[in-house]
Amino acid sequence: NIQGFIFDLDGVLTDTAEYHYLGWQKLADEENIPFTREANEALRGVSRRESLMLIIGDRPYSEAQIQEMMERKNRYYVELIENITAKDLLPGAIALLDELRQTGMKIGIGSASKNAHTVIKRLGIADKVDAIADGYSVQKPKPAPDLFLYAAQQLDLKPQQCVVVEDAAAGIEAALAGGMWTVGLGPVERVGAAHVVFPSLAGVTWADLRAKLNEAAK
Ligand code: G6P
Ligand code: MG
Repeated sequence: NIQGFIFDLDGVLTDTAEYHYLGWQKLADEENIPFTREANEALRGVSRRESLMLIIGDRPYSEAQIQEMMERKNRYYVELIENITAKDLLPGAIALLDELRQTGMKIGIGSASKNAHTVIKRLGIADKVDAIADGYSVQKPKPAPDLFLYAAQQLDLKPQQCVVVEDAAAGIEAALAGGMWTVGLGPVERVGAAHVVFPSLAGVTWADLRAKLNEAAK
């Protein structure tokens, strides 16, 4: 009996996944570290520190240098999200949010980003969500279930009453580990572990989701 939805933010409600990529690309270029859009796929939904670790590999950077690089990438990212507006909501996102609210679903956001509150405010959806779990809410990043469990708790729901909507492999893994229903957005190679997969939220209704989740429950 589903009573709530927890949406990831970057790459689900808005395409900030692209801005995270551009921030990392700029940093990698400055550090002369090879990095590509393809390599960035592995960074989707991954925390800031873990993302940097994947980029630098075994290059011998000090903790101070690591801190500086995390701050530098974040400066680039913060600059890129400065001009975000409601126009940057991905197709289908607002329609589904509104429909789910009308059916009485509780809505949460579960994002590993420390910039989630800023992005949510700029998108103009703050008053459409009942709870926000962000990069400050828990210690262990996805694929640990902690962030989504925290969001469910904030919504006053049990994990099995929640559907998590994610674009990242790490996010699907986290939600499954938490005992939640999962909707993956994107290619099957990336989010195929989810109960239900859609290319994006465009045109997706509660009826579609309910039918496919029921199917997956059999
Ligand atoms: C989300 C994004 C990741 C990002 C992480 C931390 O999970 O999908 O790409 O690295 O948040 O974001 P932050 O804004 O705190 O660096
Ligand atoms: Mg994401």
